Amino acid sequence: MKIALLGGTGDMGEGLALRWAKNHEVIIGSREEQKGMRVAGEYLAKAKAFYGDAMVGTIRGTSNPEAAAQADVIVLTIPHEYAASTILSIKDRLKPSQIVVSPVVPMVKVDKGVMYSPIMKDNKVMSYAEALAKELKDVPVVAAYHAISAKKLADPALVLNYDVPIAGDDEEAVKVVVRLTQEIRNLRPVYVGPLKSALMIEALTPLIINAAIYSKIKDASIAFVQ
Ligand SMILES: NC(=O)c1ccc[n+]([C@@H]2O[C@H](COP(=O)([O-])OP(=O)(O)OC[C@H]3O[C@@H](n4cnc5c(N)ncnc54)[C@H](OP(=O)(O)O)[C@@H]3O)[C@@H](O)[C@H]2O)c1
Repeated sequence: MKIALLGGTGDMGEGLALRWAKNHEVIIGSREEQKGMRVAGEYLAKAKAFYGDAMVGTIRGTSNPEAAAQADVIVLTIPHEYAASTILSIKDRLKPSQIVVSPVVPMVKVDKGVMYSPIMKDNKVMSYAEALAKELKDVPVVAAYHAISAKKLADPALVLNYDVPIAGDDEEAVKVVVRLTQEIRNLRPVYVGPLKSALMIEALTPLIINAAIYSKIKDASIAFVQ
């Protein structure tokens, strides 16, 4: 599968690239093609050193538009202030057969800690992912990976015993993201309903960050317990 990580030169991009490069063609997108190529080369060296001969995938870099054009799955690993404008600037070139994955969490700093800052659109409060889906129309959007620490993801030796809540309206697109999640050791994909549910998923991240700030629980994630 071809997976584009837009803004993949940053923290989340590194983690997802290193995890998926074992089996997939990962394309690192950047605002600067040269930076994308350079950083992809660094990730590739790390992935090869870790997986050795077991690695059948690869990592290469290019510009964000080029990465998006070549991919089956496009992950928005860009801060919330810039993620939507980046993908919307190329929306006419996207195809309904592609899948856009949003791990994007809109939040603001407050006195001590952070607060979730959902999107206000058409007089309705909605998640970042839902607002994006309204703009992208025929291209399915799936919300996932909001509560995974990029730092932990970037160490492929770490087994992540976490749950990944996933929301989306397109059944086939959700299935693809579920499979990609299962490929990351011990991550358990948990479908939590249509894209409307992304409002609750996105809100988990500021909660986790505040747990770190107020209660010193560092780099935590979430798991559903029974
Ligand atoms: N960090 C985490 O632990 C974590 C966990 C879960 C979800 N997330 C979500 O994942 C997304 C990425 O987070 P991150 O921590 O990886 O972000 P980041 O490292 O701060 O930035 C990622 C990349 O965004 C690009 N970028 C920066 N400013 C930009 C601009 N003005 N316009 C377009 N692109 C710009 C840069 O790539 P180029 O310079 O190469 O263009 C940068 O390397 C966020 O939406 C965040 O909410 C993060």
